[in-house]
Amino acid sequence: MDAIDAIRTRRTVKAFAPEPLSRDEVAGLLEMARWAPNHKLTGPWRFRVIGPRSLEALKLAAAAQACADAPETADANTLSAAAAAKLDRAPTLVVVSVVRNPDPTLDLEDEHATAIAAYIVLLTAHARGLAGYWRTPAVLRDADGLAAVGVPDGERVLGLLHLGRAAQEPGAAPARGDLDDYAIWLD
Ligand SMILES: Cc1cc2nc3c(=O)[nH]c(=O)nc-3n(C[C@H](O)[C@H](O)[C@H](O)COP(=O)(O)O)c2cc1C
Repeated sequence: MDAIDAIRTRRTVKAFAPEPLSRDEVAGLLEMARWAPNHKLTGPWRFRVIGPRSLEALKLAAAAQACADAPETADANTLSAAAAAKLDRAPTLVVVSVVRNPDPTLDLEDEHATAIAAYIVLLTAHARGLAGYWRTPAVLRDADGLAAVGVPDGERVLGLLHLGRAAQEPGAAPARGDLDDYAIWLD
């Protein structure tokens, strides 16, 4: 598969086989992130691969958050279970964050570079026959959720990558805007 095909055919996959990726497979994906373009080469991205204990801690935080945000009439047990279950969708979860830079321009650039690094991981997974999904769950905007996965104050989370082997056929590509919708040719 060449780069053009990989970009065109990568899809968000939300149903995964239960087996986690091996450590070598995950390392092989994260190793590619280093090729993201990055002004000043600060290498600002961090990828935390969630293990059994951090997953349990994250589920607890997600359950507590779901209950705290719910109306009083809602059933707390149902809400907690649903919030936790969402974190079982993929066998391998990776938190993507950026190390904040005190310089506002570099901070913005580093965040962009980290998004590219995350996309490289998804694209590499696809090129290797694996599946991925970039999710931005509310629990990673919550102090207890961040603590559960060890993200310190000096980092900002961009997403939670779900990785594994697809348990569904890729769906049709969601429609994209036309070139004329976003390309502006200036005199
Ligand atoms: C920064 C970012 C955040 C995303 N967050 C979510 C999310 O929270 N939930 C979700 O279902 N999809 C999320 N997605 C996936 C997009 O919905 C998906 O890429 C889009 O529907 C296009 O589908 P495709 O990836 O198959 O081309 C996110 C994608 C990006 C790049």
